[in-house]
Amino acid sequence: MRLFGRRIFDLWVAEESGRLVGSTLVTYGARAGFLSSVAVRPAYRRRGIARALLARAHEEIRSGHRPYAALQVLRENAPAQALYARLGYRKLSTSTVFAREPGPTDATYTPPGGAAIRVFARPDGEALAALVNASLSPEVREVLPSSPGAFSLPPLLASSTHSESTAWVLLSGERPVGFLRATVGGITRSAHLTQPILGPEVGTESALALVRTGLAWIASHAPVRAVVEVPEGATLPRETLATLGFGSKFTTDLLVRSSGA
Ligand SMILES: CC(C)(COP(=O)(O)OP(=O)(O)OC[C@H]1O[C@@H](n2cnc3c(N)ncnc32)[C@H](O)[C@@H]1OP(=O)(O)O)[C@@H](O)C(=O)NCCC(=O)NCCS
Repeated sequence: MRLFGRRIFDLWVAEESGRLVGSTLVTYGARAGFLSSVAVRPAYRRRGIARALLARAHEEIRSGHRPYAALQVLRENAPAQALYARLGYRKLSTSTVFAREPGPTDATYTPPGGAAIRVFARPDGEALAALVNASLSPEVREVLPSSPGAFSLPPLLASSTHSESTAWVLLSGERPVGFLRATVGGITRSAHLTQPILGPEVGTESALALVRTGLAWIASHAPVRAVVEVPEGATLPRETLATLGFGSKFTTDLLVRSSGA
């Protein structure tokens, strides 16, 4: 955090007799504190520890003048869903996580001549943020608006998590109309593709070319499973992902509540 020159996250922990028994991580966006890693040791559950950790996190989000607290939870995680409902969280949107095993010809893919794909550069962020914000529902945009910096990965973050990452843009003329980032290594066993961002004019062939470019890059690094999360109503339909061999694995809900700020 000293190197970044600003506060990037807070990790709250609960201790009992010097033993770590619970945690909550908060990262900060422009309008919301985003909670993750909410967990309490099994033997310490139902004693109000998660409630206390979340209260502390909400307090800090409030004092940082972010009006919302947001988080993602597995649809099937009944204890966590009950906890968040109890604390006044409501559902903002739903996403599906898809996974795909590596294919033998992934690494040899080259995009067709007509597909204008190049490596992402920082100045693309502005057009991409406008594209994302135009596609979000007003409710989601209010809580989690995109920003030009959201598409870059600070090199320090990649190196500190021992991961490698590359991003591409799809172009219409000079204008970025699509975006995808692929990441391998680091703290997850599977490779990760960001939600593909695709402008309304992007056709299926170009969308496929962008995703296959990401899969080829992953294959050239490691023969691992690729995971991608796609919100309901996204421009990349699940049928397109299915043609690439992606299968749906689980559903997550994006929840939000007021921080009281
Ligand atoms: C979800 C989790 C963090 C809850 O931690 P906890 O310390 O047991 O929660 P609390 O004791 O603070 O519970 C607060 C309220 O949440 C609800 N709640 C919590 N666990 C519940 C359960 N198993 N079933 C039903 N309601 C539950 C209750 O309303 C509870 O209040 P009550 O005990 O007065 O009825 C814990 O079960 C856990 O670590 N699960 C595994 C990791 C995980 O799934 N994290 C969430 C990721 S999004």
